[in-house]
Amino acid sequence: MVTRLEEPIEIPRQWYNIVPDLPAKLPPVLDPQTRTTADKKLLHRTFIGELARHEYSGERFIPIPEEVRQVYSIWRPTPLVRARHLEEALHTPARIYYKNETGSPPGSHKANAAVAQAYYAAKEGIERLVTSTTAGQWGTALAFGCSIFGVKCTIYMSRSSYEGKPYRKDLAEGWGAEIFSSPSRRTAVGREILKKDPNGPGTMSIAKSEALEDARSDPDARNAVGSIMNFVLATQTVVGEEAIAQLRGLDDYPDMVVGCVGGGSNFSGIFWPFYRDGVAKKGPKRVQFLGAESSAAPKLTKGEYIYDHADIMRTSPLFKMYTVGHTFVPPVVHTGGLRVHGTAPTLSLLRSRGVIDAVAYNQLEAIEAASFFARTEGVLPAPETAHAIRAVIDEAKRCKSSGEKKVILFNLCGHGLLDIEAYREFNSGKMKANDADPAEIKKSIAEVKALYPWLYQ
Ligand SMILES: Cc1ncc(COP(=O)(O)O)c(C=O)c1O
Repeated sequence: MVTRLEEPIEIPRQWYNIVPDLPAKLPPVLDPQTRTTADKKLLHRTFIGELARHEYSGERFIPIPEEVRQVYSIWRPTPLVRARHLEEALHTPARIYYKNETGSPPGSHKANAAVAQAYYAAKEGIERLVTSTTAGQWGTALAFGCSIFGVKCTIYMSRSSYEGKPYRKDLAEGWGAEIFSSPSRRTAVGREILKKDPNGPGTMSIAKSEALEDARSDPDARNAVGSIMNFVLATQTVVGEEAIAQLRGLDDYPDMVVGCVGGGSNFSGIFWPFYRDGVAKKGPKRVQFLGAESSAAPKLTKGEYIYDHADIMRTSPLFKMYTVGHTFVPPVVHTGGLRVHGTAPTLSLLRSRGVIDAVAYNQLEAIEAASFFARTEGVLPAPETAHAIRAVIDEAKRCKSSGEKKVILFNLCGHGLLDIEAYREFNSGKMKANDADPAEIKKSIAEVKALYPWLYQ
């Protein structure tokens, strides 16, 4: 009984861009000053030129440069594994497959986007990439990509994770990056926040403001991002494209595709190609797409679909997205990568149209499921990934009750070997759920709406 397809498949030659296949036009990105569509020049000043072009591209496919495919070949194609031991332990009639993205040098899917960004930066003569990271998976991935293509890398990492996951910092430094605890004293934003709250845990929104300030103050630097933007999500579609080819080889096709959701990149990366099959009426069945988020930052399940900033200092334009508000400080959890206030505009549009479903779990529910997975399938998942695993296990249990032979595919997007503290805390019985306070979410969303009443008239 094989658990993996034995014939090799090819590394994809193109990334898929969902924009032309969305059920409606994406709402424009707004400049709060002019109250009209944000000037595209801002995007070009902030990001790498080629990627800023991808952001607005109406092309369905973007060729993957050979240099990028060559780096991908270090760990791609990634295995598609049938989780037979998990199925057996759950006594479920469901067939569970996972795409194992843990084999990239930094240990997660984030490398797919990082290598692309570092490649284009080097090609355009950009000397330094500046970024923000929470759990550090994205920061380490960018450090890896930059080391391959000879680009300098500066990382602002939320303090709670910087202190809780020290090996990620070491790993980034090992690849030659400089990495700072955020809020930091290096930026005006960081200094202002430290003055008000010297011991705050930091958030993605603060780290993003610091990275934007740093990148904008240096003409030789650009901002690199690990999620949310279309150009990032598109580079993750290598995961879904490979999964389609591998499942074809096994003569199977999913009923359900699951991913955890922070900004939305690993989930989009695995489900977009199946969505395209559905739009083109090529898929053999209608697929359900399920995003699993953290109850510490539950934008898809408890947030609102409104215009909001990506960062605390409101230096980014306004994106229409599911958000819990950019001033919301999510409780500290081990799932730093899901501790993000907003999610991708494309994913948000699909959620608003009922194309994707969402579920939220707290860290106890997630790590319990991930521990069960580790004991049956062997891989110790990242705490973020654990949320997707919880959703898969819940669904497989429902199949056991109903007898349904559902085919479930999920993205095992990262390993947890550098998140071992989360498992230690869980095993010692000291871990708390740390759900977001609904009153705080309400307050933060009201603050966003009060800032721009013209959007709600
Ligand atoms: C392993 C892992 N999974 C998921 C996420 C969430 O990001 P995204 O929703 O963009 O995949 C992160 C973010 O840092 C991560 O490190």
